Amino acid sequence: MSELDRAESADGVISMWVADPAFPTDRRIVDAFNFAVDSGCTHYFPAKGFDELVLPKAIAAFYGEDRGLELDPADEVCITHGAQEALSLSIQAAMKPGDEMIVPQPTYNALIEKLEIFGVRPVLVPLLESEGWRLDTDAVRAAISERTRMVYVCNPNNPTGTVLGRKDVDALSGILREEERLSLLLDECYSRILFDGAGFAPFPSDDEELRGRTFLVNSFSKAYAMTGWRLGYVVTDKARADAIKRLSFELNGGVSYPIQYAGARALNDCASFVSSMVEELDRRRRAMIRGLSELEDVRFEPPSAGFEVFPDFSAYSRDSVALCARLLRDARVRTMPGVKYGPSGEGHLRLVFCAEGGERIEEGLTRIRGCLSRR
Ligand SMILES: Cc1ncc(COP(=O)(O)O)c(C=O)c1O
Repeated sequence: MSELDRAESADGVISMWVADPAFPTDRRIVDAFNFAVDSGCTHYFPAKGFDELVLPKAIAAFYGEDRGLELDPADEVCITHGAQEALSLSIQAAMKPGDEMIVPQPTYNALIEKLEIFGVRPVLVPLLESEGWRLDTDAVRAAISERTRMVYVCNPNNPTGTVLGRKDVDALSGILREEERLSLLLDECYSRILFDGAGFAPFPSDDEELRGRTFLVNSFSKAYAMTGWRLGYVVTDKARADAIKRLSFELNGGVSYPIQYAGARALNDCASFVSSMVEELDRRRRAMIRGLSELEDVRFEPPSAGFEVFPDFSAYSRDSVALCARLLRDARVRTMPGVKYGPSGEGHLRLVFCAEGGERIEEGLTRIRGCLSRR
C-alpha cells in the first residue's frame, strides 16, 4: 500500500480525485440487465427472441433525435468496453507505430498513456488558459506534419470542464477538411453533463465526408453513473467500424449482451435520470465554485460541463504532485496533480465534485484553505 493509499484509507478523507459519479445506477437499467440474464442471455448471442442490434439501434435513435444524424446501426456503430476501449480500438484501427497524433492539453491522461503503448507519438499543443482553456486552432495547424494521422479532441474537456465553442469547432473542421488524410478522435464522454449556458457545439453533422473520418467516442460511465459496467461505443463510417469490430472480436469477443441490453434501456428510457443527476451535480459545482473563490491566490475557470474543475495553485506550489501529497497528508483531501494531464497542467490540481455531497465539498475546501494558510 502506498503512502497515498494509506492516508486515503484513514477515516475522514474527502475525495476530490476520482471522476466516478457517486450515484447508484438507475434501477430500470439494473432491471433490464437482470431481465436479459433471467431470460437466458448467458450464451453467445443473440438469444432467441432478443435483437442483436438492440444497443446500436438505441444509439442510432439517440443521435437521430439529438443531432439529426442518420446512422446505420449495423454498419456505423461499434460497442466497446467503456470509452477506454473505444479510444484504444480507434487508435489501433487508424494508426501505426511512428505516426503522430495532435493532442491539445491538458487533457484526459489515459489517452496520452495509451499512445505510448501503441508507439504513436503525441504532439502536445497547449490549450489557451488565459482564454478559458480555448483550443488554439492556429497551433493545431502548425503542429501538422507528414506523419500526423489523427487529432484528438476531448469536448467537453477533462480536466478543465470547458467546451469548444462554435467558432473553434468550425475552425478545426476547416483544417480537417483541408487535410484529408487526418481523422478526428472525438471524445464526448461528458457531452450530456452540461450546465447552464455551456454553449456546447457538436461537430457538424451535415458533412458526411468529415463525419466518416471521425471516431465519435462516448460512454455510459459518466452520464448514467455506470463506470463499473464498462460500456461505451464508437460511431464512424463503415470501413473504420469494420476495422474496429474485427479488433474487438479478435481481442475480446465483444461486450456481453445483458450489459448491452441494459445500455439500451438507459438510452431509451432514462433521460430523466441524467437530468436529475445533472441538477444535483450543478448544486455541487456551485458549492465548489463558491469555496474556490474564497481561496486566496487560486485562479480558475468555472466549469461549464462534466464534473471537474482545474484551478491554478501555482502561487502555493509549482509541483502539483508534491502539493497533492501535502493536501492528502495535512488536510485529508485527495486531489489529482495537474501535471498528469499534460505539461500545461503543472501548477494546477484537478478537483472533482461528483464524489461527495455539497457539504463535504465545502468542508474539503475549508480544510484546503487551512492547510495552505500554514505555508
Ligand atoms: C474524457 C474521458 N474519456 C474517456 C474516459 C473513459 O471512460 P470509460 O469509463 O467509459 O472507459 C474518461 C473517464 O474518466 C474520460 O474522462
